Amino acid sequence: MLRRIHPAAADGVGSKSSPRLAWITDPHFDHATLETWRCWAEELIALAPDALIVTGDISEDEDVAYQLEYLAETFERPIYFVLGNHDFYGKSIGSTRQGIIAVARDSEQLHYLTDEGPVFLSPEAVLIGDDGWGDASEGDYAGSTVRLSDFDRIADFRPDAPETWQAILQREGLASSERLAVKMAGLPEQARHVLIATHVPPFRQACWYEGHVTDDNWAPFFVCGQMGRVLQDAAKANPDRQFTVLCGHTHHDGDAVILPNLFVHTGYSRYGTLDIESLIEIDADGFQVPRAF
Ligand SMILES: [Fe+2]
Ligand SMILES: [Fe+2]
Repeated sequence: MLRRIHPAAADGVGSKSSPRLAWITDPHFDHATLETWRCWAEELIALAPDALIVTGDISEDEDVAYQLEYLAETFERPIYFVLGNHDFYGKSIGSTRQGIIAVARDSEQLHYLTDEGPVFLSPEAVLIGDDGWGDASEGDYAGSTVRLSDFDRIADFRPDAPETWQAILQREGLASSERLAVKMAGLPEQARHVLIATHVPPFRQACWYEGHVTDDNWAPFFVCGQMGRVLQDAAKANPDRQFTVLCGHTHHDGDAVILPNLFVHTGYSRYGTLDIESLIEIDADGFQVPRAF
């Protein structure tokens, strides 16, 4: 579902030749105290970025919309976000998306990238995104001992029918990858640098845990392999275009080079604390994602 395409400068982000984008992931605002939130917001505002990118796990249930609106009120800049698995807790996947789409469409500042087309950050740099899902495409689903809270907290997963879960994971990964493929196929020639915001790492090599990549037990739930294949195909088909992916979900950070023109940055998170993952800049070489925070 593609809603609108932002021409450069239409929303303020593209009004300068090199906008700076603050990136956060997995804030899980429901775990942070108000004092922690205030300190974090002050730090964010002091950095004066042109926009904020949030790669999912904002909160849970009704608090997701509340947090987004409060963030928009506090941080008077465009906020580009995708949802993570925790954001669907308390409802079904479909009803959560519909609710957040309505909230974002009602706001000038909030941009749910899953519902939106490409956002031009400069004439050559574009932002797209989609939620993504741990889609049972990597690792050993049948042999895995992992049972995520998702299966108890998201209405699509019936606790009495675990044999249906794998198909739901695959369905969600496929839907995300197909939406992303449509957005990528529509990019104009001049889009040399593509920033992709998503929640789940699209590659096992980008799925970090304590400095190592995930094992077969966790990979089915921590990699969106179908999205990875779309990204890899796009990068191979467009060697002159650079693809930079921002993701989270694992709560452990790391950087991965998948192809010479395909990079994945996975962000850090710890429940109860709030961080700023990076202040991203765009130069002639593309998106620069320093980990200075
Ligand atoms: Fe998370
Ligand atoms: Fe997550």
